[in-house]
Amino acid sequence: MNISIRPSQQEEAGLIYQLRSDTRLRDMQYQPSWREYPELYVEVSLAFADQSEPAFRCWTVLIDGEFGGHISETLNQSTPDGVTISLGWNIVPEEWGKGIAPYAVRIFLNQKFECEKPVQFVAMCFESNSRCRRVLDKLGFVAESPTLRERLNNWLRTFGRHRLTKYRLTHEEWKAIHSTAG
Ligand SMILES: CC(C)(COP(=O)(O)OP(=O)(O)OC[C@H]1O[C@@H](n2cnc3c(N)ncnc32)[C@H](O)[C@@H]1OP(=O)(O)O)[C@@H](O)C(=O)NCCC(=O)NCCS
Repeated sequence: MNISIRPSQQEEAGLIYQLRSDTRLRDMQYQPSWREYPELYVEVSLAFADQSEPAFRCWTVLIDGEFGGHISETLNQSTPDGVTISLGWNIVPEEWGKGIAPYAVRIFLNQKFECEKPVQFVAMCFESNSRCRRVLDKLGFVAESPTLRERLNNWLRTFGRHRLTKYRLTHEEWKAIHSTAG
């Protein structure tokens, strides 16, 4: 099986929206908001395409050349010391359990840590989403408490149905994992 990532293209917008809206994902992540529409992810990505620190970018995960999911990165904070990027990802349900998300996100993280200025990543995950938490563990993300604002936002978006876990991965943590992994 060949897994790769590349910036999402216009014709994939519908597939990304369809995946985001899949009922099998309903209890695993936030549902698309009323402001989301199929072309949004790719349109916004293209709008920031020339920038070294885009506000948003969507990557397509290809499995043997076919659409297999997406990774989204949102600029969270930029300071002279570096940038913090929020990450999210979805894999098509037919391919769950094959290690595709950890593999694809690892490709993405390697690119980011090698090419750009100091960067760290945060990811939010429902406490009940054990599959995603497992992926975050495998990649070396470290759990921390969400801020009050993040918890409040989560409460409003899920009507209190889900507890939130926050994860962070710094460059140092990534390097430590890779130097011990050889
Ligand atoms: C979470 C998600 C990205 C994981 O991707 P993946 O490619 O399936 O990842 P993995 O194959 O490494 O599986 C992760 C863990 O999920 C569990 N898992 C996988 N398939 C499963 C299944 N059908 N039933 C129960 N558990 C399953 C396994 O325990 C696995 O851990 P392991 O490798 O230690 O056995 C994918 O399930 C997904 O897209 N889910 C819906 C959206 C989502 O949750 N996005 C993230 C929002 S924070």
